[in-house]
Amino acid sequence: MTSDARELAARFDLERLTPEFYVNPYPTYRALRDHEPVKRLPNGSYFLTRYDDLVTAYKNTKAFSSDKKKEFLPKYGASLLYEHHTTSLVFNDPPAHTRVRRLIMGALSPRAIAEMEGDLIALVDGLLDAIAEKGRFDLIGDFATAIPIEVIGNLLDVPHDEREPLRDWSLAILGALEPVLTPEQFARGNSAVQDFLAYLETLVARRRAKPGNPERDVLTRLIQGEADGERLSEKELLHNCIFLLNAGHETTTNLIGNGLVALDHHPMEKERLIEQPALIKTAIEEMLRFESSNQLGNRMIVEAVELGGIAMPAGTPVTLCIGGANRDPAQFPDPENFDVGRTPNRHLAFATGAHQCAGMALARLEGAIAISRFLARFPHYALAGEPIRGGRVRFRGFLSVPSAIEG
Ligand code: HEM
Repeated sequence: MTSDARELAARFDLERLTPEFYVNPYPTYRALRDHEPVKRLPNGSYFLTRYDDLVTAYKNTKAFSSDKKKEFLPKYGASLLYEHHTTSLVFNDPPAHTRVRRLIMGALSPRAIAEMEGDLIALVDGLLDAIAEKGRFDLIGDFATAIPIEVIGNLLDVPHDEREPLRDWSLAILGALEPVLTPEQFARGNSAVQDFLAYLETLVARRRAKPGNPERDVLTRLIQGEADGERLSEKELLHNCIFLLNAGHETTTNLIGNGLVALDHHPMEKERLIEQPALIKTAIEEMLRFESSNQLGNRMIVEAVELGGIAMPAGTPVTLCIGGANRDPAQFPDPENFDVGRTPNRHLAFATGAHQCAGMALARLEGAIAISRFLARFPHYALAGEPIRGGRVRFRGFLSVPSAIEG
């Protein structure tokens, strides 16, 4: 076993993954954590899988930079994809990052999020009604995907009849972040940024002419900026609206999809949650830990550091493996066990430090409402066919999960 694991760790290359890895990456992450937690990949970058190492990297923004201007230039050239990613707050360092983050956090206020609850419940219940009529359904297409896109559409107050292209734009832009990029993925991502920008320009112009209620409408709030006069430039505003939609879309779809699949695979935990609905909060945290929808983060080392006895010079790219850290036994007792009541559960699904997810309160609310109402309505749901995985390493989730309301 140990020599197999050693071998698995030794062979690991993020650019040459096996079909088995996509189905279940956790044995590989475990082998890496145990044998090569600071793993040098053939392309010269490092891959980190230990919880403490990820926390160190997330908290040290001086040595571990998020700024991707240099790194993305050879990948994207002087394209709109390049402009988009390098203007998104997630790919910037302080002080540029601090300013944009403050404005976005201000707009995603607890009040704006609390205001969403009523619409969210109505949306989820409407989807559940439609599923009840069908009997057989796709957990992803008929449920999980429909929620986040509507929520962010509501947050930015995008008119309902203009929402249709948002999902495909978002998937195309995120698809272009995969470690290995095909020319088709690049072309799709680039034209998605172009179309999305063109759409947002018209939306912002309309909103400037007729502002919404800044307590509820995040776009109006971002346009108006802070009371002290701090504002986003037009370019920052447009690209960060695209980013908000992308950041909150597939990740939350996958939280809901992965969560309901995990419950199906762990019937005792499913029963426990049905019997004790108050466990929904810890259950959502466990779903985030156990099948983190965002499995990988990236940083560039800009000041020489040492991790796990390995010296890494400035200019070394590192991948932070959230999926590995979230199953590190040094942090989580019995980490391969799915426990809906797990406490404490300081997982890194939302990262930590300066870039910690700005939408985590919203994601938690969406996950809790979607999953608790689904379970209350269809306690006997069961998978009814082979789920189809998304086939991506960074964003872990399903494209389709055929299901039935009665198992
Ligand atoms: C389950 C759902 C979600 C997961 C797992 C998730 C995960 C993450 C992670 C890991 C990061 C840190 C990236 C890094 O620094 O490397 C992040 C950042 C971010 N997320 Fe989320 N996210 C989720 C939902 C959302 C939602 C719903 C929104 C907003 C509508 C959102 C907005 C953001 C923003 C704005 C950032 C950038 C923060 C910064 O750089 O300061 N996320 N998210």
